[in-house]
Formats: sequence, structure tokens, C-alpha cells
Amino acid sequence: MGSSVSGKRVAVLGAGKMGSILLQALLKEGLISPATTTATVAHAERARAVAKKFDIKVGTDNLEAARKADIIFVCVKPPVVVDVMKQIRPVVTAKQMIVSVAASVPTHLIEGALKPKVPVVRAMPNTPCVVEAGMTALCKGKFATQEHVDLACSLFNIFGRTVVVDEKHMDAVTGLSASGPAYIYIILESLAEAGVKVGLPRDIATLLAAQTALGAAKVVLDTGDHPAQLKDAVTTPAGCTIDGILELEEGKLRVTLIKAVVKAAQRAKELAFVS
Ligand SMILES: NC(=O)c1ccc[n+]([C@@H]2O[C@H](COP(=O)([O-])OP(=O)(O)OC[C@H]3O[C@@H](n4cnc5c(N)ncnc54)[C@H](OP(=O)(O)O)[C@@H]3O)[C@@H](O)[C@H]2O)c1
Repeated sequence: MGSSVSGKRVAVLGAGKMGSILLQALLKEGLISPATTTATVAHAERARAVAKKFDIKVGTDNLEAARKADIIFVCVKPPVVVDVMKQIRPVVTAKQMIVSVAASVPTHLIEGALKPKVPVVRAMPNTPCVVEAGMTALCKGKFATQEHVDLACSLFNIFGRTVVVDEKHMDAVTGLSASGPAYIYIILESLAEAGVKVGLPRDIATLLAAQTALGAAKVVLDTGDHPAQLKDAVTTPAGCTIDGILELEEGKLRVTLIKAVVKAAQRAKELAFVS
């Protein structure tokens, strides 16, 4: 399998929320063609709706969809992943490639349900993929080569940024970047509420909060500077920001966020499906 997406036939098994985000962006960017893309869902009426939406072939037969695909995206819920892999086992060979986005399902479990040597790449995207500002961490199974990883990265790069990690870090990734948008939304909601408290209209307060978060994140990414150093640059001696920071420290924002990520990562580990 070459590392270029061009001309590859794609099957998306489980075209729900995440599967549809993938289909939408890959088709829109012209990385895959409607004529060589198929998808599956559980219910026939949903299949008709998804087929109409994307103008692709959609059914409920995973085996049929997998048979002719070069890349098979697995986007069903974690508890059904192994069943779906067993369904497609008769037709999937080492010349194809599986890309699973299912949380907490290790690659060895997917590999074990398929014939030997089928390459598997596991990806953990997050919901900002929908506006192409996503963060996707990827890891490879034991039969996937660097070429497979490069190919998967080139697909997920259109949704934002990608990073390749060891599989042992995937639960930590789940707790940080996959759950992370929820934490940030709570922070944004709170900042907007604070703006209202100090007299701003809600829409302006929300805009100020969201653009400030976006800007601060962009500075960290663009400069590579340490967040603490950037925070110091905003904090004038005896100015306003230091008073705000004192409140954050007293409210234990720092330790609360750390504990949130630790708990979510632990939960991802607990949910891990074992063979
Ligand atoms: N949502 C996120 O933020 C997010 C982030 C990272 C990873 N993920 C992963 O993405 C996967 C899907 O999550 P989701 O939120 O997209 O769930 P979802 O919207 O419920 O989508 C699941 C899809 O799977 C279909 N399905 C169920 N059983 C099937 C079967 N046996 N064969 C073929 N299709 C089947 C369902 O069909 P019907 O529509 O007919 O019911 C539905 O379209 C999960 O493994 C999750 O861990 C999600």
C-alpha cells in the first residue's frame, strides 16, 4: 500500500457522528471519490439518509463494504468493534488497512479478530475536527508499517493536527484531547458568565471568551513558548491580571484541571476492552 491517499477505495463502517465527520471532510477535500467510497450503518432507513447526504453507496452489510476497500475506517461504538471485525474477517487481507477511531479498543483486539498480519492503525480524534481544528493522536498496531501510519496521518491532517504516540499513551490522549473540548467549553461558559456579571451583553462576552482562548492557544502553538512564560508577559506588577490569577489559585483551577484529565484517563483505561 502506497502512502498516497489518491485513488484509494474507502469504506466507513459505522457512519454515525464521527464516521460522518470523516466522510464529509474527506469527500469535500476531494481526497476520496464518491464513486469509490462506501459506508455502513445498523439501520436501513439511516443507510438511505446517509447515502442521500453524501451521494455514496451506504448499506448495512459490513462484509460487502469491506470487500472492495483499500482503507477500512472503523467508526462503530467500542462494544461492537470486535463483532464487526469478525464479520469482515473472511474478506480482509494484509493488503488492506484498518483505521479504528473507537475509544478504548486496543489494536491487538482488532488484530486478533482478523486474519493474521492485517495492518491496524488506531486514531483518537476530537470533535473540533468538524471545523478542521481537531487534534488526532494515532498509534500503530504490530502489523502496520510507517507507510500505513503516514497514510493515516495524511487523512487526519485535513481535520487539524496529528501526532503519533505509543499505544500505551492512548488513554491519556483520551483524557486530555478527546475529552478536553468539554473542559474548555465549561471554561468558556464560565468566562462568558463572568462577562455578563461585569455588565457585558452575553453574545459579546461569549465572543471575547472564545476568541481569547483561541488566541492564547494559537500563541502557544505558533511560538512554542512555555505557557507560564506567556502568562507572566500578561501579568503586570500590581496590575489587574495578578488579582485575577490569585482568585484562580485560591479556587484551585490548576489542580482541578489536572485531576479532571487524570480521572478521564483512568476511566478510559477502565473501559478498555480486554481479550
Ligand atoms: N463522538 C466523539 O467525540 C468521538 C471522538 C473520538 C472517537 N469516537 C469514537 O467514534 C466511534 C463512534 O462514535 P459516534 O459518536 O460517532 O457514535 P454514533 O453516532 O452512535 O455512530 C455509530 C454508528 O455505528 C452504526 N452501527 C452500529 N452497529 C453497527 C454495525 N454492526 N455495523 C455497521 N454500523 C453499525 C450506527 O448505525 P445507525 O446510525 O443505523 O444506528 C451509527 O451510525 C466510537 O467508537 C467512539 O469511541 C467518537
